[in-house]
Amino acid sequence: MDSQQLLFFVNGRKVIEKNVDPEMMLLPYLRKKLRLTGTKYGCGGGGCGACTVMVSRYNPSTKAVRHHPVNACLTPICSLYGTAVTTVEGIGSTRTRLHPIQERIAKCHGTQCGFCTPGMVMSMYALLRNHPEPTLDQLTDALGGNLCRCTGYRPIIDACKTFCKASGCCQGKENGVCCLDGGINGLAELQDGDETSPELFSEEEFLPLDPTQELIFPPELMLMAEKQPPKTRVFCGDRMTWISPVTLKELLEAKFKYPQAPIVMGNTSVGPEVKFKGVFHPVIISPDRIEELGVISQACDGLTLGAGLSLDQVKHVLADVVQKLPEEKTQTYRALLKHLRTLAGSQIRNMASLGGHIVSRHLDSDLNPLLAVGNCTLNLLSKDGERQIPLSEQFLRRCPDADLKPQEVLVSVSIPYSRKWEFVSAFRQAQRQQNALAIVNSGMRVLFREGGDLIKELSILYGGVGPTTVSAMNSCQRLIGRPWNEEMLDTACRLVLDEVTLPGSAPGGKVEFKRALIISFLFKFYLEVSQSLKRMDPAHYPSLADRYESALEDLHSKHHWRTLTHQNVDPVQLPQDPIGRPIMHLSGIKHATGEAIYCDDMPAVDQELFLTFVTSSRAHARIVSIDLSEALSLPGVVDVITADHLQGVNTFATETFLATDEVHCIGHLVCAVIAESETQAKQAAKQVKIVYQDLEPLILTIEEAIQHKSFHSERKLECGNVDEAFQKVDQILEGEIYIGGQEHFYMETQSMLVVPKGEDGEIDIYVSTQFPKYIQDVIASTLKLSANKVMCHVRRVGGAFGGKVGKTSIMAAITAFAASKHGRAVRCILERGEDMLITGGRHPYLGKYKAGFMNDGRILALDVEHYSNGGSSVDESLFVLEFGLLKMENAYKFPNLRCRGWACRTNLPSNTAFRGFGFPQAGLITEACITEVAVQCGLSPEQVRAINMYKKIDITHYKQELSAKPLAECWRECMAKSSYSLRKTAVERFNAENSWKKRGLAMIPLKFPVGTVTLAMGQAAALVHIYLDGSALVTHGGIEMGQGVHTKIIQVVSRELRMPMSSVHLRETSTETVPNTNCSGGSVVADLNGLAVKDACQTLLKRLEPIISKNPRGTWKDWAQTAFDQSINLSAVGYFRGYEADMNWEKGEGHPFEYFVYGAACSEVEIDCLTGAHKTIRTDIVMDVGHSINPALDIGQVEGAFIQGMGLYTIEELSYSPQGMLYSRGPNQYKIPAIFDIPTELHVSFLPPSEHSNTLYSSKGLGESGLFLGCSVFFAIHDAVRAARQERGISGPLKLRSPLTPERIRMACEDKFTKMIPRDEPGSYVPWNVPV
Ligand SMILES: Cc1cc2nc3c(=O)[nH]c(=O)nc-3n(C[C@H](O)[C@H](O)[C@H](O)COP(=O)(O)OP(=O)(O)OC[C@H]3O[C@@H](n4cnc5c(N)ncnc54)[C@H](O)[C@@H]3O)c2cc1C
Ligand code: FES
Ligand code: FES
Repeated sequence: MDSQQLLFFVNGRKVIEKNVDPEMMLLPYLRKKLRLTGTKYGCGGGGCGACTVMVSRYNPSTKAVRHHPVNACLTPICSLYGTAVTTVEGIGSTRTRLHPIQERIAKCHGTQCGFCTPGMVMSMYALLRNHPEPTLDQLTDALGGNLCRCTGYRPIIDACKTFCKASGCCQGKENGVCCLDGGINGLAELQDGDETSPELFSEEEFLPLDPTQELIFPPELMLMAEKQPPKTRVFCGDRMTWISPVTLKELLEAKFKYPQAPIVMGNTSVGPEVKFKGVFHPVIISPDRIEELGVISQACDGLTLGAGLSLDQVKHVLADVVQKLPEEKTQTYRALLKHLRTLAGSQIRNMASLGGHIVSRHLDSDLNPLLAVGNCTLNLLSKDGERQIPLSEQFLRRCPDADLKPQEVLVSVSIPYSRKWEFVSAFRQAQRQQNALAIVNSGMRVLFREGGDLIKELSILYGGVGPTTVSAMNSCQRLIGRPWNEEMLDTACRLVLDEVTLPGSAPGGKVEFKRALIISFLFKFYLEVSQSLKRMDPAHYPSLADRYESALEDLHSKHHWRTLTHQNVDPVQLPQDPIGRPIMHLSGIKHATGEAIYCDDMPAVDQELFLTFVTSSRAHARIVSIDLSEALSLPGVVDVITADHLQGVNTFATETFLATDEVHCIGHLVCAVIAESETQAKQAAKQVKIVYQDLEPLILTIEEAIQHKSFHSERKLECGNVDEAFQKVDQILEGEIYIGGQEHFYMETQSMLVVPKGEDGEIDIYVSTQFPKYIQDVIASTLKLSANKVMCHVRRVGGAFGGKVGKTSIMAAITAFAASKHGRAVRCILERGEDMLITGGRHPYLGKYKAGFMNDGRILALDVEHYSNGGSSVDESLFVLEFGLLKMENAYKFPNLRCRGWACRTNLPSNTAFRGFGFPQAGLITEACITEVAVQCGLSPEQVRAINMYKKIDITHYKQELSAKPLAECWRECMAKSSYSLRKTAVERFNAENSWKKRGLAMIPLKFPVGTVTLAMGQAAALVHIYLDGSALVTHGGIEMGQGVHTKIIQVVSRELRMPMSSVHLRETSTETVPNTNCSGGSVVADLNGLAVKDACQTLLKRLEPIISKNPRGTWKDWAQTAFDQSINLSAVGYFRGYEADMNWEKGEGHPFEYFVYGAACSEVEIDCLTGAHKTIRTDIVMDVGHSINPALDIGQVEGAFIQGMGLYTIEELSYSPQGMLYSRGPNQYKIPAIFDIPTELHVSFLPPSEHSNTLYSSKGLGESGLFLGCSVFFAIHDAVRAARQERGISGPLKLRSPLTPERIRMACEDKFTKMIPRDEPGSYVPWNVPV
């Protein structure tokens, strides 16, 4: 077969590929071949949206162009023939003209690290191309497939909202209330006299959206589509052939010839299988523009939809039909629509086809159960003729006589109208409400005999509870003829539980939850149908009890709105002085145009190699042998580096690089394959053969570590006399709480490029790290070079959160070793799955507490034990443990306190630093204890919190003095701003009126210590040059990882030198310009480096003072020239020594911190007791931030951290196999908050500037503190669950683990359904996963 050439357009330019590789996806093609690096790699599996681009396709029949967003990582380039692709570079740039969406996302502060931004921009752009004035629903829907780990989404919504018709408003009156009219429950949002600060951006300066300015669809492609005779195209690669038939006849011929070849439509099912499961197809058939596959026809008995329609098109067709037809005819369509609204993100819905969805028959397919209960028919065609088969359970189980034949093609699907007395419902519950595969889903249908009394037909199918979609067919049969009443429901539940069974060890785990969902959905169905029957015949059917109706209502949702109250600059401050002003992130525009360069965006260096790691598949084993021969024999493979090569340099400090004779976790680095290309390296890595011999013991969990006394380290702090105090208290309680770990999920995976300079052994490392100096040290030691030959460069980091220090340095050392050994540049970029497997994350914790307290809520004695799961090596575990102990008391004064901590050594990848560094776990343990004390005392947790809070001047348990006045102010303000008391009453009222939905409210105080523990850890340096044209170049030791440190630094230079910000430039952080830096982390980066920059500026000013005072009206150009003429040095280093800090662990005393950030947050949630879903209705945050240097950046840090904390405490859940294998290795298994998860209402306010301090302009570092406030959502859920349990008469302590996932919420809301489900005896089965 002759290969043809591929033709498509990218950003208005024609691309012709003569030798196209059908295995190539659009993302690497854009990035590597066309060098359009604005489109980012975040996961490779359609789950993050970082790679979003727009594809436009002309349809010659309708003469219309369809624009839609796609995930470039799953789009085969061969599928693009005749299309126009638009990437972020194509819509605007700083060199030409910005697109309004690029401008607005940047100016509304919607970018931090910027790695997600091009994807966000393109999703929004595709929406605007179709709807120039979108509604808020369309907007959140369009962004639902794009993840952002930094911003917390609110500023992105703000930016996008400016395109909506009446920006800022919900544009509707839900229940007669507009979003601007007032808050929930009819309560005023803000107190009288309260002021909202000026906006952080000004809409007036925005470029208008002018659709006529957009790129037009290339006329050449239109002409081609109109004129070219339809003929199958064939693209042949080395291994794969791609066949694109353009008529149905040709498609059938191709399928006849290659019956085993998949028909690729959206590639969202085949693509991930190829990528993640190693499936290979030598031939792929991909139909293009075949009219019959796009049919939409309406007949007297129902709708017929072409198998080639995208799920998004199906959604629109159904939405249209349900508007036009009577409700009784559209039951199935309504149910399908319900699921189509939450299924994946907009990109996947636009790519995935109806046929592909049906035929791939995923066990968690949302649509198949509904299509099956809806009695749909599949219209098949082959060369042998037409055939129709029902979309039945047998089809879903792939029974050969009910399935497609290999030569057959699914042409269309007939979905009949529903009939009178027929009802169809859809149910699903996922870890995250939207864009997450269902844990269990279901389609249910009932048809009653005329009059509605007795069941005539019943059909129930479930997804997620077996290897395929399963039907409760027998149960349904047995219920036919029964009346629709509670007795029937009870029997139905028992029958279904007997029929749809799950073993305790079922894949996916959550077995009891799934069982509970199976019947909870059934109950919901029962109520839904009962309600409909009542509507149809009110006289005949009883009403549902009011309190039951809540089971049917959707969780509270209203359009997002927010207020931000920040500090205003002093009116006397000079207008050109930028300190205190909401300056946009310095790279904001570059993030939005895709011009910001990250490590893997750097062009290939001549003769560059690629390195990939081979990791251990055993958690604790001896390496018996490693056979590299096959890997080394493959084409392009240059070398495989093992521990043997690194003899003598295989360790640094406590860490070993490559495994020697033993492996200590799954994911342990064993060797590194180096090849000419990434593909070759990856293929070779699969051929490395390692033989292991398992070793005992295998320690995975904290409990197992305690049992084996397997600890890295332990620490203790004590104050007062704990034992004596326990004698005096009224009551004592003991409890424990487990807190799961957290994956950093920085959007840019670990990335590095090492370039040997070829002279004197010099080597340059471009790496995404928070700690360049450490990388320099580790590499210098590995290469046996002095540090002055090793230069580490970091321009920006696409998110880090603590995860780009320890493991990064190990991988950089091995990469540098390879580069040095071969004298060639080596690049190493981890895939998302590798990154999640190898690099560890936040430490899981087990907290045990014993509290002694008085009946009035005063806690007089507290004895706490922290056990963290440190993983296989020490990494940062000791420091995390120490910080946890130092910060564990949060905002409370416990006069007699003993806290001890152990970092457990286990056979898991080593856990490491993560935003908050031990505090989010330690604080939660304390708050859990307080919540329990409150229950015992019959008080609200907020009362007990207030009673025990630090008051005014006090000392901590390690004897550091503090002034807690701002804490009390934050608490008071938060109470007032959130209308806590009124809302508490409203929540109680809501709970009394609703049985199956409950609300909860919780308020949490915050005292977050900030400091460096030692003086040396706080030193920082900077370098400022002034050039003769009056411009300045500044460098410092801090890393820009999204927090905006470079922006703040330029603000500092601008204030100090009284120079416009536009005259100051900052290139990168490098060990070459500023040596011996500290790690960027711990909320102090801008603080310390800003002081060093300030010092440099002041040195310069002092030198230039005589010149400036002689010519005060001069410009910097004049002064610089005069200084040069007088031989005055125009370059200065600046230095900050650090804060006086110490901590003596022997004595348990010290002054480790410089200051405290105070705050409070109040959150309200609504939970669905039957499914475990929750929605954060509203959050109010009040923070004491000192004098904010940049309120826009600071609010961004607080909000972003809060949402990350909310994720930690609610949905982010890592799962490990009993053998220690991390299952959750991508966005499809590990859910970080998405746009729908943020609080519907969010109010953030900063206290007015507090007293002056010796920090940078009396500011406070806010990088970490807000994260802990996310636990206000945890405790609000706790409150709601308690209300549910109380109503059901369940007393006794409520023990909840973090995260409070839908599973935990559902199972804690015990009811008659949870009592009905079978339980497995622990020990009687091997669970699928183990909590570590
Ligand atoms: C990130 C992500 C999130 C997702 N989230 C959800 C979710 O929340 N809920 C959910 O239900 N699903 C979800 N999915 C699954 C998604 O719905 C399916 O992957 C998709 O519908 C498959 O359609 P496709 O056109 O891309 O199939 P393809 O990958 O193109 O093809 C899939 C299979 O169908 C066969 N096929 C396709 N068309 C025909 C035809 N006309 N005749 C015969 N055989 C045919 C092919 O041979 C192939 O075997 C998600 C997928 C991804 C990647
Ligand atoms: S990289 Fe394509 S969706 Fe994540
Ligand atoms: S700004 Fe969105 S991931 Fe960093």
